[in-house]
Parts: sequence; C-alpha cells; structure tokens
Amino acid sequence: MPPHPLPPSEQQFVTHLLAQMTLEEKIGQMTQPEKNSVKAGDVTRLALGSVLSGGGGNPDPNTPASWRAMVSTFQDEALATRLKIPLIYGVDAVHGHNNVVGATVYPHNIGLGATRDADLVRRIGRATALEVAATDVRWSFAPAVSIPQDLRWGRSYEGYSQDPGLVSELATALIDGYRGDGWRSPTSVLPSVKHYVADAATTWGTSRRVDRTALNSDRTLATAQMGQSTVELLDLGAWQIDQGNAEIDEETLRAVHLPPYRAAIEAGALNVMASYSSWQGLKLHAHRYLLTDILKGELGFEGFVVSDWEGIDQIHPGDYARCVVDAINAGIDMVMVPFDYERFIACLQAAVHAGRVSTERIDDAVRRILSAKVALGLFEHPHTDQDLLNLVGSAPHRELAREAVAKSLVLLRHEGEVLPLDPRGPAVLVAGPDADDIGAQCGGWTISWMGGRGPTTPGTTILEGLRAVAGAERVHYCPDGRTEQCFPVAVVVVAEDPYAEGMGDRERLTLSPEQLALLKRVRERCERLVVVLVSGRPLVVTPHLPEWDALVAAWLPGTEGQGVAEVLFGQRPFTGRLPFDWPRTHAGLRRGGDERPLFRLGDGLVPAGGLVVG
Ligand code: GLC
Repeated sequence: MPPHPLPPSEQQFVTHLLAQMTLEEKIGQMTQPEKNSVKAGDVTRLALGSVLSGGGGNPDPNTPASWRAMVSTFQDEALATRLKIPLIYGVDAVHGHNNVVGATVYPHNIGLGATRDADLVRRIGRATALEVAATDVRWSFAPAVSIPQDLRWGRSYEGYSQDPGLVSELATALIDGYRGDGWRSPTSVLPSVKHYVADAATTWGTSRRVDRTALNSDRTLATAQMGQSTVELLDLGAWQIDQGNAEIDEETLRAVHLPPYRAAIEAGALNVMASYSSWQGLKLHAHRYLLTDILKGELGFEGFVVSDWEGIDQIHPGDYARCVVDAINAGIDMVMVPFDYERFIACLQAAVHAGRVSTERIDDAVRRILSAKVALGLFEHPHTDQDLLNLVGSAPHRELAREAVAKSLVLLRHEGEVLPLDPRGPAVLVAGPDADDIGAQCGGWTISWMGGRGPTTPGTTILEGLRAVAGAERVHYCPDGRTEQCFPVAVVVVAEDPYAEGMGDRERLTLSPEQLALLKRVRERCERLVVVLVSGRPLVVTPHLPEWDALVAAWLPGTEGQGVAEVLFGQRPFTGRLPFDWPRTHAGLRRGGDERPLFRLGDGLVPAGGLVVG
C-alpha cells in the first residue's frame, strides 16, 4: 500500500478546512469547466476547484506570457474566495507543453517507447514540467498508460508500447520527472494517469461516441478541425473503436492493463483520469468496482479521480441527473464539465439534498482533491516563478528533444548499405511535402486538438535538419519528386495526416495514393531510396518494401526534426527498437490473431557502417 501523501499534521489541516466548507464550496471543488466556458468572476462566485484548457484551449495571442496571464487570473479569482482554496489548472501536455506556440514538442509516446530509455523520459518529464509551470499550470493530463491492442485506434501513438512492463517503466519515469525535487516544489506538476482502465482494449465497431444524425449539435466534435469532413472520416472508420467496449475478462484486465496504474500509484501519482470506454458493457465512469473497490481499495489510491471531457454524460444519455449520481457514487471525485458547469453543480446539490449522493461521498471526494493541492504546495505558493518563462522552448530543452528524436528512430529495412549517408558525399534528393512540415512531424495534440500540417509552431523540419547537417548544397529538395536529374540516394518523407482520439480511428492503415505515386516517381530518379515514415503507428507497407532500400520509422518526432537528420547522416546511431509488433497485413492490426508480424516488438537494425564522426 502506498503511504498517504500527507503527514498527519497536514491531514488534520485538510480535515479542519473541510469542516468549514459549505456544500456549495465542496461541490465547487469537484467542478472543472473549460476555460472558454467560464464566465469572468465565476471561479470566485462558485468556488471552482479547477479549470482546464482542452486541446486547443489557448489564449489569444497564444504565447507563453499570455498563457501565464490567463492561468494566473483564474488562480487570483480562486484566492479571492471565502476560504482562499487555490485552484489547480489542467492541460494536456502530452508531448511537451504542446498547446503553447514556442514550447518544445517531444516525440509522442510511441516514439519514446521505441527509445526504451527511462532516464530520457524522466528528463523529458522534468523539462516539460518546467515549461508547464512557467505558465502557472500545475497539472498535466499525462502519462497515458494505454496498452494498444488494435493499431486502428486513433490513440495508438499515446501508448508507449504493447508491453505492460515497458509502459510501467516509462510512465513512472515521466511521473518522477513531473515530481522533480518533490511534489511540494513549485515546479512540480501533478500527473494524470490515464485512461483508467483498459481504454486501449476496446473492440472495433463497439464505440457509440458519434451519432451521425446529431453531428451539428456535437459541441466537442465541432472543435475537431481536420482536413476532411467528419462524415468522410466516419466513412474511413473514425470513432469506430475509441471509447468503445473492452470485451476482455478480468484476468486479462488485471494482467495487461492494470499494472501501469499500480506502478504509477507506487510512484506517488495523485490523479487518475477515468476512461470513456466500457468494460463488459458498463461505462468506466459508472464502474464502482473498478473505480472504488479496485483503484481506491485494492490498489490503495489516495489521490482523486477526474472524469474525462463530458465523460459522465455518456453513462445515461439524456438523463444527466442520473449520470451525476452514478458517476459520483462510482468514485469520480472531480468532473470535467467543459460547458454546462452550473447544470452539474445544481444536479449534484439536488442529489445530495435528495439523499441520492451521501455527504460522506462528497467529503471523501473533496478530501482527496484538497490533499492533492496540499501535497503540491499550492496553499503556500499558488503561483509559480514567472522567471521560468525563459525556459519555454529553450535551447537545452530542444537539444533534449533532438536526443529523443534520434533515439526513437527504428531502422526496419536496410539494403545496399545505403545508411548512414555521407555528409561529404554527392547531393541527396529529398522529396515529399512532409519533409518540410512541422505540423506533420508533431501530429495530434499540437497547438490544436487534432494538430495539423503547416508551420504551426517554431521548430526544425526534417529538411531543415538535413540541410543543417550536410549543407544546403548537398540537399536537393523537390517536394513532388518531379525532377529530370538522377541521384545516388533519395530520401522521401511521408506522414500520416495529423489526428487525435477517435478522429484517427481508421479501418485501413496505408499510405495514400498520392504518397505511393510520389515514391514511384522518386524510385525512378535514384539508385538507392530511403523512406522515412512519420506516423502515429505502424502502417501496412509490405507490398511496397521491395522497392525501398531503407525504411525508417520516425513516429511523430515533434519540433526537433534535426534528430532525424543526425541519424541519417551518421552523427548519432540507430538505437531504436519497435515498441509494437508491425503488421504484415490488415489482418494483423489487432493483436492476438494468428498472423506472423512483418517485424516484431524489439526489432531494429543497426547499419554496419557505424557512425560518421565529426
Ligand atoms: C479528451 C481526452 C483526454 C484529455 C481530455 C482533456 O477528450 O480523452 O485524454 O485529457 O479530454 O482534454
């Protein structure tokens, strides 16, 4: 059993504070609206305990300083309440402080899984915490400890690996990084271990998240700006598996999906986010056995459970009052209610007055929330040091990201000793619009919820990195690959369209016809073809492999594309290893089938040519 996060004296402080609180103040602590919904003064008026920025919930202008001003204003409103209970602001800093223009954006978790480097992840956690704290934010909804079972899931890249042990190791490393010198330090950031539990074990076709007849009234999907229409994406499989039903037995749930939570709790995590998904047909947000009996009872979790975004609404669609009762009684302690927060407050107050939710349950939830705030030192220092702003996007952080990118690359095919490229050799043809696109290399959860192509935030594209390493004169860039010249070596970068969550669910994981045509054109203009795949997951490329001399899985590297160039030109070695099996055909996208993978968990080649030093 993990120790209680607070010494007895501070547990007494919480007990004393709780005894002073009215029911309204207690319910306020349990309420987390989105910053675009909160009316000025409402944090004070309703004694709200938390506010969040959803994906893309950015201030205008989107700068570190304006982020800090926004968050600090909410905190000052909380400190103006009767009991001066500090607020805790939450963001999705899932691969750096990724909503903030100018922040360092690291490889998504799948790339970090390929590094198998816990110390690196710990350093990334620390650097991320410093950039998050710089904006006066002290809570990040990470790490995801999902263990993807079906690569068609749009959140596969948020999983470190299919290996529960590796997920546990890297998640606890990130938590250590968030903690830094100690949770009480003003640069610690509260992690949110998510999404509890077995979020990644759902079955294709079981999601009920999207009602095609109600798309126009879905306020959350309305913020999911993608290059294609929602209907087109639904036809490709969007929202078919995300938030679906995990049809696994308890033995599998315990053996595969629970261990990272046990490890995270042992590492001191004080927040867990409930999963939208269901287990054996019951929504996790209403699952008392999993949320209370197992998480808080058997695993001894002393922190608080936050719902996901409108997560409680899905329990009994159309009967919100019943959703509130069942969610709180199941063990949800704080409700992420992005829009209609006053409706939530009124429903919970009515439920308590009607005896449908006990005051003991309310006190337990609020005690957990207050204990986490005390553990973070928020009562002593509700604001962080604004000098931290100098660290956002700083050179040391970008160098750390470059190291992570380099270590994340996995070499899967290598013919003719084409790698490493000679930085003093003949010019290299580089092709593909995605070779020069920060948004493509960052993927989802970057500046906006879905992410998107284009110069969305400062960084170094893969092309810029290649030019920096080998000299512009040795890099002949031809985005569409249409050139009459022939080259000894060509590098083509192809990327998945950025996506997040169920918008990224896809029935088929292939390169687009345009990308295949580009590759065919370049194939005819070079002796050796190196393909760099920028993707949130393995794609089915088996039929094309014989045409390629090298295949490099680069995952979603983030802002520091030079890390790719440094490995291609031999300044850093290939050390990455596959964190997932790589499917041979679409039949292999869901684990557990009888198809032999094309490449296996742990695979990764190292060129015989070794390093090119200097
Ligand atoms: C989203 C995601 C969750 C995220 C939360 C806040 O829907 O499921 O991972 O932390 O909402 O943005």
